[in-house]
Amino acid sequence: MLLIHTIEDVRAQIKSWKKDGLTVGLVPTMGALHAGHMSLINKCTERCDKTVVSIFVNPIQFGPSEDFDQYPRTLEADAKLCKKAGVDIIFAPTPKEMYGEGHILSNDFLTYVVPPFFYSNKLCGKTRVGHFDGVCTVVNKLFNIVQPNFAFFGEKDRQQLIILKKMVKDLNIPVTIVPCPIVRDENGLALSSRNKYLSQKSKKDALVLNKILFNIKSCYDNGITDVRALTETAYSIMNFQRQSLEYLEFRDQDTLEEKLTADDNTIVFIAVKVGGVRLIDNIALGMIG
Ligand code: PAJ
Repeated sequence: MLLIHTIEDVRAQIKSWKKDGLTVGLVPTMGALHAGHMSLINKCTERCDKTVVSIFVNPIQFGPSEDFDQYPRTLEADAKLCKKAGVDIIFAPTPKEMYGEGHILSNDFLTYVVPPFFYSNKLCGKTRVGHFDGVCTVVNKLFNIVQPNFAFFGEKDRQQLIILKKMVKDLNIPVTIVPCPIVRDENGLALSSRNKYLSQKSKKDALVLNKILFNIKSCYDNGITDVRALTETAYSIMNFQRQSLEYLEFRDQDTLEEKLTADDNTIVFIAVKVGGVRLIDNIALGMIG
């Protein structure tokens, strides 16, 4: 496995693979790898001849009051996991390599990929203004640098996945996006690098997210489709202050349009602040099981 820090070196390596007709898969991450990331990586190694994992805590997708500085950086441990999983390249650029000197006011970096407002102004985009501009911009750059045949993204960040699919379609980017199911711990909590911030008690409180989602799913499976009624079932099992709920919304799996009546194309999105940590989760009502 190669650990590469520069765009030039990663391009040279990939060029030689492409010459040999090999397929290349990319798994973009911000590191602090856990079993959720590893499920994407395993899918990639199964499906592609060569697997590139990018590890880059992308400054332009963090707001000024967000956790960019505190975000866990564990490159050594990540590299061990990747090596064991059969990864071919870890691409771990510095912010300077990606954006040049001081990306905000310099001329080094000025061009952003801005997703449609209708997709980015809701759910996480409401509180994380500009976040999806940062995500689309860095993923577009990674696509241009690596030129993968396949790119793997988790359904854990469903709004991100929907927006990136739209970007690829609208901009005719020659890559196939492969969505990967949410990996949960034994109690049902969706794995996230930010779970590291949770205390023991908050970890228990955090289970309310998946309890609400699976409860709504079982009500839907039993024939309830009225979104108001489904939302009420959620409030009835909430054991936390209502104000800690940032959103609970029913939206279309492709267009993010709001649903008043749930159907098999509906995703239920939830965000809750637990012990000061913002957690997100979602469930597809059309999912079997
Ligand atoms: P990061 O949060 O590190 O996540 C990298 C990928 O892992 C994303 O596609 C995310 O959806 C997936 N993932 C995280 N937890 C998961 C889980 N429990 N189950 C399944 N997949 C999971 O998402 C980002 O980084 C960044 O925004 C990025 C796309 C790399 C752009 O900077």
